[in-house]
Amino acid sequence: MVTISVEMPDKNLETRILKLLEKSPEGAQASGLAAALDLTRHTVAKYLLALEAGNRIHYRLAGRTKLWKLASSAMRIRYLVGGDLDSIINIVLGISRSAGTDEHKKAVSYLRETALRHIERNEPLMNLAAELDGRLIGFIIGEVRAWEFGQTEKTGWINALGVDPKHRGKGAGKKLGEALLSNFRALGITRVRTLVNWYEGDLLSYFRMLGFNVFNMTPLEAKIGLPASAKQLGGSASGGKLPHGRKICNAWQAGTGDRA
Ligand SMILES: CC(C)(COP(=O)(O)OP(=O)(O)OC[C@H]1O[C@@H](n2cnc3c(N)ncnc32)[C@H](O)[C@@H]1OP(=O)(O)O)[C@@H](O)C(=O)NCCC(=O)NCCS
Repeated sequence: MVTISVEMPDKNLETRILKLLEKSPEGAQASGLAAALDLTRHTVAKYLLALEAGNRIHYRLAGRTKLWKLASSAMRIRYLVGGDLDSIINIVLGISRSAGTDEHKKAVSYLRETALRHIERNEPLMNLAAELDGRLIGFIIGEVRAWEFGQTEKTGWINALGVDPKHRGKGAGKKLGEALLSNFRALGITRVRTLVNWYEGDLLSYFRMLGFNVFNMTPLEAKIGLPASAKQLGGSASGGKLPHGRKICNAWQAGTGDRA
């Protein structure tokens, strides 16, 4: 008879490791954790890898030494600045399914132009970055619209959002979204909107998590043909829209983001 045993992770030990890391915001080595827990380095290393796979912790290299930290404590939210543009573009290039096409290159240049305008001219509270160990890993850009469609109150809009695919699931999106909503509240805004493609389930659940629901207006769009002369100029009057199914940024894609 063959006996198969499965080693189940000790949740209690995971919690103790997380508690120790909570007390070491500058990071802790596996050997230090092992000593504190009276365990072998090998055992602790196994648990660290499992926690890393679950995106609960991450490490940074100091020379050849791994310094382990809680994923969320190492993250900070700050205002976006002009110098962040390249990082924003890189994140969007990592997200987009149509990267590399001519249309996409054009759309990326619109994104750069629009993001720069938001960063330079809009309320800084509306443009936020998530940073992990000094690197920009996510961004969110919003705006306040004073009047639209006969509504009687100012409305907040989330125009663009992205988290580096390598750093998803670490809470950056949540922190960015919650920080922006809190900044809208600080500006007296109680209604916030955005646009999401109906088939993007992950984005929809993200916004549901932040408290968003379908609202009682119907988005409408008309495809209006361009005069031949404008087509020859590259169709710039189209607002940089990509064909259905490709995307750059939510509200900008829908042509709403340039109205600030
Ligand atoms: C949506 C997005 C911002 C989430 O970022 P993230 O840092 O991975 O999110 P978080 O780790 O903070 O997760 C927060 C919550 O969002 C939801 N969520 C995030 N990713 C999800 C996914 N792939 N599927 C389902 N829900 C998801 C969950 O409710 C999650 O909470 P939980 O971890 O307790 O379940 C990120 O996936 C993204 O950038 N997507 C692409 C956005 C885009 O298309 N932008 C176009 C350019 S503007």
